[in-house]
Amino acid sequence: MPATKRFQPSHRGATPSIAEKMRSRAKEVEATGKKVIYLQVGQPSTGAPEGAIDAIHQASDTSILGYTSAAGIPELRARISKNYQDLYGAQVDPERIVITFGASGAMILALVGCFDAGARVALPQPFYYGYRHAMGTLGVECVPFDTSMENHFQPTVEDVQKIDGEIDGLIFASPGNPTGSMMPGQQMKELAEYCQQKKIRLISDEIYHGIVFDDEVPQQTAVAFSDEIIVVNSFSKYYSMAGWRLGWMVLPDYLIEPISNLAHNLYLCPPAPSQYGALHAMDCRKELDAHVTRYKKNRDILVKELPAMGFDQFAAPHGAFYLYCHVQHLHHDSMQFVMEMLEGCGVLAAPGSDFSVRHGHHFIRFSYAGATADIEEAVDRMRKWRAD
Ligand SMILES: Cc1ncc(COP(=O)(O)O)c(C=O)c1O
Repeated sequence: MPATKRFQPSHRGATPSIAEKMRSRAKEVEATGKKVIYLQVGQPSTGAPEGAIDAIHQASDTSILGYTSAAGIPELRARISKNYQDLYGAQVDPERIVITFGASGAMILALVGCFDAGARVALPQPFYYGYRHAMGTLGVECVPFDTSMENHFQPTVEDVQKIDGEIDGLIFASPGNPTGSMMPGQQMKELAEYCQQKKIRLISDEIYHGIVFDDEVPQQTAVAFSDEIIVVNSFSKYYSMAGWRLGWMVLPDYLIEPISNLAHNLYLCPPAPSQYGALHAMDCRKELDAHVTRYKKNRDILVKELPAMGFDQFAAPHGAFYLYCHVQHLHHDSMQFVMEMLEGCGVLAAPGSDFSVRHGHHFIRFSYAGATADIEEAVDRMRKWRAD
């Protein structure tokens, strides 16, 4: 008798989510009656700005909100182009802007549109884990490489030169996740020039732009350095619209058509209601900047209070809402450490394991996107727990 043939899932869905695992453990702790403070979340604790919500109501009164062009509505592409001029003094033709379903969608399009299966794309460690998993799913080889705490975990040309073998692409983020650190303009220029010369496709993830605290490292878009660079951005973070699933990419001219074709073939178009909402969210900077003021306050509390508890090794978080902290001297395994802290004082941080193949088990990430009162309570609880 031949063995019974069974339906099987593809190997692509095999990567487990550490975040899900942590969340379900936290829910179990909550079920025992303990309040958990979630410092592992990677999204704003606030909703979309009022202007965006009003705009959706208005758009639904006057439009069927059906499919849009695969590259997005022209008004939004033009508005984003204006932002490049207003915020960075950079001229970006609206045609070069393609609206996507979040930065995640932009990155999938960039990976599929620029690299064939087997291509090698480098990721500076620590990195946003979603990219590594997306590459694995798409058959692109992820080449993690080390950065240093002295350079705020942002890659230098020297770091790239140490990578074994040829690479076809490189992705970096400034401000970064999990560190919140930023790459100085000169370093970005050198990296852009090196990649241009070596024909390494550079992708700059600028999703945390707008959430920048000091003038120490001025915010810089990679668009300013070369028309060859792909920039990925999103309405999920500064615009506080994570669930609206909307982002964009800035492309070199010759990629506009192939990437728009891919977008159309894969998912037809980005969500129409979100596009109308986003158009108006861009005029709500006052409301959005108030969130940034709160993130900064939260960052200052953590930077001041954590060292006395033994969390004293981290790169300065210049932006975003993360602090990535070395904890090897406190525990040999950050996943276990995070679990012990959750059970010990009801504060949940993210273990570094997903962010770095090499050193992740020695780091944890605190997210401070929540209310300042929660950050203060978390600090209080951690202080007592560490003192016990
Ligand atoms: C650095 C970075 N890039 C991309 C993403 C994905 O964001 P989006 O919600 O726009 O898909 C995230 C989400 O946390 C992120 O931290």
